[in-house]
Amino acid sequence: MLLTDKTAVISGAASARGIGRATARLFVQHGARVAILDLDAAGAKAAAAELGDGHLGLGCDVADAQSCRAAAEQVIGAFGQVDILVNNAGISQPVKTMEITPADWQRIVDVNMTGVLFLSQAFIPHMRARRQGSIACMSSVSAQRGGGIFGGPHYSAAKAGVLGLAKAMARELGPDGIRVNSVTPGLIQTDITGGKLTPAMKAEILKGIPLNRLGEAEDVARIYLFLASDLSSYVTGAVIDVNGGMLIH
Ligand SMILES: NC(=O)c1ccc[n+]([C@@H]2O[C@H](COP(=O)([O-])OP(=O)(O)OC[C@H]3O[C@@H](n4cnc5c(N)ncnc54)[C@H](O)[C@@H]3O)[C@@H](O)[C@H]2O)c1
Repeated sequence: MLLTDKTAVISGAASARGIGRATARLFVQHGARVAILDLDAAGAKAAAAELGDGHLGLGCDVADAQSCRAAAEQVIGAFGQVDILVNNAGISQPVKTMEITPADWQRIVDVNMTGVLFLSQAFIPHMRARRQGSIACMSSVSAQRGGGIFGGPHYSAAKAGVLGLAKAMARELGPDGIRVNSVTPGLIQTDITGGKLTPAMKAEILKGIPLNRLGEAEDVARIYLFLASDLSSYVTGAVIDVNGGMLIH
């Protein structure tokens, strides 16, 4: 049990086969009390109920600062303390550079990158006051290798922005006892691809993965667990690849 007496907030954890949901389950197995924040309010409530008693599911749009502040107030009110924040919510769109409209760009950047800032800002004052906290941020191998798997260039840009933001927050917040790290998964089998990943595409992608399989949501959940727990107490500003060797650098 790595998270006994800890409380965790996980964004984007409503979708049934998603990374956030798998992370919520794993955190609960390790003794944490979990709050799920998701754009899908009903899904968040159902997911929290599935976790058992004492967990919380709330509607929250990470791209809206006011929505993040309201959710943080509710969670802190209900739990009394928040030790862990997992900035996991994200969206993708498989388009090419010339197809990106201004609205596409704004939406992808708002949810994937600005959402990390807004939700972190909502919890940092509380973590600072307690002089402890662990924030994990979702980036992607797409940020490191220039996309080319599923998300478009705007997705790569937003996820690369997350890496810079997380590192800068790690440097700034370290003296307050708050650690900030990022994860960069390769292709993980969730519903984010919206059924558009064909068997032929999968076979082609597998050729470039030394471990010879696509990732599972649990593969990433275990890295979030490491970053959330005291196992990583001297780790901040780090980027952890979870990609089966798809990118070795
Ligand atoms: N699946 C992959 O291959 C992969 C690879 C690298 C990174 N990621 C990232 O992992 C994260 C989780 O993705 P997933 O694959 O589990 O997908 P998913 O679609 O199953 O989960 C994403 C969740 O985020 C929620 N969400 C979307 N917009 C939101 C908003 N504005 N505010 C709050 N919640 C919102 C959705 O409702 C959903 O529950 C995303 O940030 C994604 O970009 C995924």
